[in-house]
Amino acid sequence: MLRLDLSNVSPFLPDGWRIGEEKGLKQAHEWLVKGTGAGSDFTGWVRLPENYDKEEFARIQKAAQKIRSDSQALVVIGIGGSYLGARAVIETLTSNNFNLTKKDGPAIYFAGNGLSSDGMTEVMEAIQDVDWSINVISKSGTTTEPAVAFRVFKALLEEKYGKEEARKRIYATTDAKRGALKGLADKEGYEEFVVPDNVGGRYSVLTAVGLLPIAAAGIDIEALMAGAREGMEKLSKPGMDNPAWQYAAARHALYESGKKIEILACYEPAFRFFGEWWKQLFGESEGKEHKGLFPASVEFTADLHSMGQYIQQGERILMETVVRFDKGRGKVTIPNDPENVDGLNFLSGKSLDFVAEQALRGVTLAHVDGGVPNVLISVDSRDEKSLGELIYFFEFTCGISGYLLGVNPFDQPGVEAYKNNMYALLGKPGYESQKAELEKRLGC
Ligand code: PA5
Repeated sequence: MLRLDLSNVSPFLPDGWRIGEEKGLKQAHEWLVKGTGAGSDFTGWVRLPENYDKEEFARIQKAAQKIRSDSQALVVIGIGGSYLGARAVIETLTSNNFNLTKKDGPAIYFAGNGLSSDGMTEVMEAIQDVDWSINVISKSGTTTEPAVAFRVFKALLEEKYGKEEARKRIYATTDAKRGALKGLADKEGYEEFVVPDNVGGRYSVLTAVGLLPIAAAGIDIEALMAGAREGMEKLSKPGMDNPAWQYAAARHALYESGKKIEILACYEPAFRFFGEWWKQLFGESEGKEHKGLFPASVEFTADLHSMGQYIQQGERILMETVVRFDKGRGKVTIPNDPENVDGLNFLSGKSLDFVAEQALRGVTLAHVDGGVPNVLISVDSRDEKSLGELIYFFEFTCGISGYLLGVNPFDQPGVEAYKNNMYALLGKPGYESQKAELEKRLGC
């Protein structure tokens, strides 16, 4: 069960700050659950934990089983919302060294999330001597990075297995009706999964986009959905005791009071990619019209020895949100050393979890004393149900927060600017005049 602690936020805000947010929260909640606000065409994720396509869910589980039985590696091709959710869940629930620590099933390699030929070569080399499959994920089917990667890996797969067998090893997750990938998947007869029309990339982790790779990694996707469903049921009730309202209100009030950056912190290394997913969720949803908290993420205690200095004493524009897992999995006890050369015998017999807990408490107080408001989100453990609830909590808060800020939380108009320049410079047909203009600016 998720618990929210705002006791280290209130001292930074005037009395009655919650009341000041109530009207906006009420309106935002209504827009979200009734689908009547800006971008309402993309609020399909709000009821998704109960409304998901059960027939497709069963096919996802079947396909994942097939991949687990016939592949030692799965190459997941996608970028942004078409990859971060899957990677976040797989790593948070297992390890940030998933491929080294997994006990069975395929290694999972993520490709098509950049344009580094070194990165792609590394994946190509890793899979060359094993049986492998591809899950290509692109809602539009035209995004350059995954489209290029798919060309490369499809050719490799066909070279290894021949066209017929390769077809059976390619799983395409894309739009139900439109797009280049949809056309190709229909033509080639790949098994297809759908990115629902009414769910945008950054809210798509609980659709086939995230669920197929997550299930292929051996994770219980029923439990993940059950956790999200629990979150949905709790958060669908309007009121100031709704934790999503409280978190959204705190973020908004702090933003209005001059905080410009929100840092997501966690003491688990496995959480790193959850931070990446969270950054896209909030950054793409709120960062528009020259507004929005800039989302950053850190791993504690490692980053206390690098970013800790700035957090403690840099510009006072930061707020911090810490995710804490109540129950750890490891059982490390600090041994006694009769010589006590390092002076650490005061910790002999104590668990590392105990030390980490004191670190969390000490860091929180230090940061609060240094002027950084602190939100604490506690969840039970790194299990499917807890994570499902946490995902839904952040998604719902993000929708509410975007509306409170006065932006459409479901579009991303700013993402097109770089794409258009890149297409023009690459000589894509239709971009001729832009190409000439950009080259002139670049002095070519
Ligand atoms: O959230 C988003 O909309 C983006 O991150 C997209 O998911 C990303 O650009 C990939 O798009 P597509 O799935 O169309 O390839």
